[in-house]
Amino acid sequence: MAEKANVMDKIVALAKRRGFIYPGSEIYGGLANTYDYGPVGTELLRNIKNLWWKYFVQGRSDIVGLDSGIISHHKIWEASGHVAGFADAMIDCRHCKARMRADHLLENYIEAMDKNALNELISAYGVKNRDFSKALKTGKVEGLSLESLENIRANLSNLSHNPLVCPNCGEDDWTKIKKFNLLFPVQLGIVEGEQGMGYLRGETAQGIFINFRNVVDSTRVRLPFGIGQLGKMFRNEITAGNSVFRTIEFEAGEIEYFFDPEATEWKPLFEEWKNAIWDFVTKQLGIQQSNLRWREHEDEERSFYSKRTEDMEYKFPFGFKELWGLAYRTDYDLTQHKEASKKDLTITDPQTQKKILPHVIEPAVGINRLLLMVLADAYVEEENRTVLKISPKIAPYKVAVFPLLANKPELVKKAQDVFKLLSPEFMTAFDDRGNIGKRYLSQDEIGTPWCVTVDFDTLNDESVTIRDRDTTQQERVKITDLVGYFTQKLQS
Ligand code: GAP
Repeated sequence: MAEKANVMDKIVALAKRRGFIYPGSEIYGGLANTYDYGPVGTELLRNIKNLWWKYFVQGRSDIVGLDSGIISHHKIWEASGHVAGFADAMIDCRHCKARMRADHLLENYIEAMDKNALNELISAYGVKNRDFSKALKTGKVEGLSLESLENIRANLSNLSHNPLVCPNCGEDDWTKIKKFNLLFPVQLGIVEGEQGMGYLRGETAQGIFINFRNVVDSTRVRLPFGIGQLGKMFRNEITAGNSVFRTIEFEAGEIEYFFDPEATEWKPLFEEWKNAIWDFVTKQLGIQQSNLRWREHEDEERSFYSKRTEDMEYKFPFGFKELWGLAYRTDYDLTQHKEASKKDLTITDPQTQKKILPHVIEPAVGINRLLLMVLADAYVEEENRTVLKISPKIAPYKVAVFPLLANKPELVKKAQDVFKLLSPEFMTAFDDRGNIGKRYLSQDEIGTPWCVTVDFDTLNDESVTIRDRDTTQQERVKITDLVGYFTQKLQS
């Protein structure tokens, strides 16, 4: 575990050092669970989003895009159930005032327990306390009531050997476990009092449901079809750590895929979506298959309105964690909004000619979490270098151009010409600082797939040396062939 944690620390350090991710509000001491993206992080984020949009929206005739507002009417979130139920169980340490998610506290403790002690406890509690023994067996406490969580916490704190204490200060002085709503309220200026209360959206999905009628009336869509949206969402998360894995502001890519359950069987459709997501992550983002898996939610974990939910999980340095959720949400959301708004949200299915409220399958992913996965998956330490083997499709820079020597104006001029040739076609870096070895190292650490060096021979033969990031092999290519060379590489 120490070794794995170490890898995460190294990735976080590289991300800061090379301009991928900076801690939020850093010069004022930082703000928990917020981050900013530096020059190369911004490019990477944008490339991932563009690829998602191209693959899931522009590349499909059955999906259209949407860009709904971030600040939204409080009635949306009352109807969707978020105001009443979008909450985490939270606990405070009275001694050091650390606040944490109670489910994470208990699950992390159980995960780290000695396996013999764990088995002894399971046999001792077995039938006497079902929730407790199930939590011990599965390592999961999701879906349990506050009372059950409190009971599990008390049992673990009462253990004579290695009792549950605050991971921050080591004391056993807990508040009661309470619900903590994740929505961020905003007070709008135009209207006084409660009526002027809105929320920053807690998911982009609701923007899709409330615009369902608009999209149906203003486009030529017909069932089955999807509406996709990329954008920021906000959750008052209290768990810190693991970089951008869990933040209070993040971007998501969500699709609501509407269908008539009488005309389209949901199980094959669900499988199609699993395949599309797998294909995107492995072939488009270039992630290693061995680091991915699907995990189905158990009944307690799944939202009450969902018939099936599966998470694609990625093996982060801190363990397998949710990357992408796929949920069959039935007609829950449209029903809620239809009832709360009193608007007709039905649509005629062209196959059955019946007016129905469609069901949805929802693939939802955090773009920032995809970025963290890309960094973790690409991070490789070799004997003399650290390299990010990011898929060229999404690498921040595709090419870097160097003059062999910075103090030779004729080489610098020629390298600038090569930069001017390449930069309209590909995101291209130019570097004439330090020696060539250092320049390679810095491009390796930001994942630039190819470096082009202009040397003295270039002045005679109009050729340059291309060095491949992954193999470090070099080859000579004519300047006039460069655009074709990289275009072909990026397509393969
Ligand atoms: N509309 C469904 C929905 O919002 P979710 O599982 O809560 O589902 C979707 O979120 C995805 O967003 C997750 O699979 C994860 O990738 C990402 N995500 C969720 N909470 C996050 C957070 N606090 N920070 C970063 N990414 C988050």
